[in-house]
Amino acid sequence: MPLPTGLTELLGIEHPVIQAPMPGAATPEFAAAVSAAGGLGSLGAGPLPPDDLIVQARGVREATDRPFNVNFFCHPSPELDAQEAGRARERFDHLYRELGLGEPPEPSVPPIAFDEARLAALVEIRPAVASFHFGLPEPDAVEAVRDAGCLVLSSATTVAEAERLAQLGVDAVIAQGAEAGGHRGSFLVPGDDGPVGTLALVPQVVDAVDVPVIAAGGIGDGRGLAAALALGADGAQIGTAFLACPEAAVHPLHRQALRSASAEQTTLTRAFTGRPARTLRNRATDEAGEQPLPFPAQLSLSAPLAAAWAERESGDFLPMWAGQAAPLARELPAAELVVALVSDAERTLTSLAGG
Ligand SMILES: Cc1cc2nc3c(=O)[nH]c(=O)nc-3n(C[C@H](O)[C@H](O)[C@H](O)COP(=O)(O)O)c2cc1C
Repeated sequence: MPLPTGLTELLGIEHPVIQAPMPGAATPEFAAAVSAAGGLGSLGAGPLPPDDLIVQARGVREATDRPFNVNFFCHPSPELDAQEAGRARERFDHLYRELGLGEPPEPSVPPIAFDEARLAALVEIRPAVASFHFGLPEPDAVEAVRDAGCLVLSSATTVAEAERLAQLGVDAVIAQGAEAGGHRGSFLVPGDDGPVGTLALVPQVVDAVDVPVIAAGGIGDGRGLAAALALGADGAQIGTAFLACPEAAVHPLHRQALRSASAEQTTLTRAFTGRPARTLRNRATDEAGEQPLPFPAQLSLSAPLAAAWAERESGDFLPMWAGQAAPLARELPAAELVVALVSDAERTLTSLAGG
């Protein structure tokens, strides 16, 4: 029961389902299972050192010869202002002292942006698809990615962003609505100023660009996939629903929270990284989100706290990325989830057509 669309044709896959890149959670085995099942598996290479990425990509290739995607962050790396950094340390001071961790560390900028070394790794790996979050790299880098044989995708959170991506020559646009788990891919707007939901965004993006559109955000089951196709999308990029798969390398506290009633309570926060991202609500989102350092510098203050609390079996400061459809997630192996999403979507579409 393949569900062919313009996207499946473009990417050379069977089903119009992309497993979202989720650094840490989406292991090579996980991505390979999705690709082998006919979807598009993705590695979230954002924070990965390039050598580790090459090893992970080799892992996917050893498990399947189907297409897969490698995803990068391409944000501008900020210059840290000493006064701003000092004020941020002061804001975190009581949280560090509460655990007896001493003073907060001197803030720094983790080197996680797409750069020469990551481009070289990508060219060596030559995945079928390279996707980017927070815009696109410089045109010559995009050219090099294309020359390596990769199709290029990126996320848009507004119609203007989708139009910009189309002008820059992406092969497909991921229209990411406000419901989505993880970081908003915004690059022309702040991302937490009046975010637009998937139901409103997707048809507007479909009308605005000539390339295939992939819906993302709040798609938790086959009904959501059918709805995305009804809106004119050619497929869906799904993150949160895949977090429930047993293959997902999710922190046990995160998994436990996703299974609990608190999965209903997500919020958009800059508390963890400095960029707006949707997570389960916890103490960090309530207490550490004010005047954050610019992305990704906020991580240098939030990550040690998350680790220290997690060691004490508490998810209070853990980034527990999740979208608004989290309660819909079913704990199926990744390959079974791909098949269930597609067959449920087909059933929904058939019944809507009076079949
Ligand atoms: C745990 C998690 C991590 C994510 N990390 C990335 C990432 O590194 N790069 C990216 O392009 N999107 C990332 N996303 C966003 C997804 O690409 C996608 O937009 C989102 O998952 C769709 O919404 P959903 O979670 O409701 O399915 C992440 C999402 C989640 C849930």
